[in-house]
Amino acid sequence: MATSTPLLLLLLFLTVIFLSTEITAQPAAPAPRRPGPINITQILEKGGQFVTFIRLLNTTQVGNQINIQINSSSEGMTVLAPTDNAFQNLKPGTLNKLSPDEQVKLILYHVSPKFYTLEDLLSVSNPVSTQSSGRDGGAVYGLNFTGQGSQVNVSTGIVETRLSNALRTERPLAVYVVDQVLLPDEMFGKHKISKVTPAPETKSPVVSDDSKSSKKAASPPSESEKSGSGEMKSGLGFGFGLVVLCLKFLF
Ligand SMILES: *[C@@H]1O[C@H](CO)[C@@H](O)[C@H](O)[C@H]1NC(C)=O
Ligand SMILES: *[C@@H]1O[C@H](CO)[C@@H](O)[C@H](O)[C@H]1NC(C)=O
Ligand SMILES: *[C@@H]1O[C@H](CO)[C@@H](O)[C@H](O)[C@H]1NC(C)=O
Ligand SMILES: *[C@@H]1O[C@H](CO)[C@@H](O)[C@H](O)[C@H]1NC(C)=O
Ligand SMILES: *[C@@H]1O[C@H](CO)[C@@H](O)[C@H](O)[C@H]1NC(C)=O
Repeated sequence: MATSTPLLLLLLFLTVIFLSTEITAQPAAPAPRRPGPINITQILEKGGQFVTFIRLLNTTQVGNQINIQINSSSEGMTVLAPTDNAFQNLKPGTLNKLSPDEQVKLILYHVSPKFYTLEDLLSVSNPVSTQSSGRDGGAVYGLNFTGQGSQVNVSTGIVETRLSNALRTERPLAVYVVDQVLLPDEMFGKHKISKVTPAPETKSPVVSDDSKSSKKAASPPSESEKSGSGEMKSGLGFGFGLVVLCLKFLF
């Protein structure tokens, strides 16, 4: 009888360890990988109201760039997709006044080189860098995200709007819908850095603005490091809790 107790204990320990590894392993197990490359155009086509954005992703080649970069980046990406309504609500001629390079910059401003869940965005440290950041040498081109409850707003400094919907929330690509085109302050606001190509008949009033705003300090790209280790820890904690519980029960 006396010899069976250690054996029982050993068995119990093994069971507990097995159970706890099961528990800790669960959060790490990824959802089954979907085969085939991610295609931003296809995701937006399913959304049905992004004809203009799709066209601009195509003409600027940013769409291809996103598809390639998602495939090779470990950080993932986040795209804020303005609806056709959003483009229609722009002041007439807004897009046409932009040079091809400025159109690229505008579209890249809607793309962040990091995957963010809505939850990440509720508490991310601002400003969040975009694919436009740094293209003007020191220009920030950041987006500010603010959360209230489960609602996330994005602000450029001159435009603020809600993230109204999510087309995709799986790593490595998040796509959120916005009801306004995100016009960067650096291109359209008081702090204009990029000269929006003046229409031929008008004098350019932009020059003095430029010299002031070009002194704007560059801020380092924001990093909101949220590792998945929290889940791991709680799993382990649960495991140890079980061991302690069993020991109490035995003695
Ligand atoms: C992405 O999808 C669009 C529309 O379905 C298609 O025209 C394009 O060729 C696709 N791109 C790639 C790289 O598969
Ligand atoms: C994308 O642009 C190419 C030319 O650059 C054009 O042939 C093609 O039809 C465009 N696709 C879409 C979906 O606009
Ligand atoms: C994605 O990466 C894999 C391997 O790194 C490569 O074989 C594939 O062609 C890439 N796909 C795209 C669309 O770039
Ligand atoms: C964005 O947030 C940063 C840090 O909180 C702040 O300094 C900056 O003024 C904000 N910019 C805009 C456009 O709201
Ligand atoms: C979010 O933006 C909307 C405008 O689109 C505004 O009405 C609302 O008050 C904002 N919410 C927060 C929390 O700032």
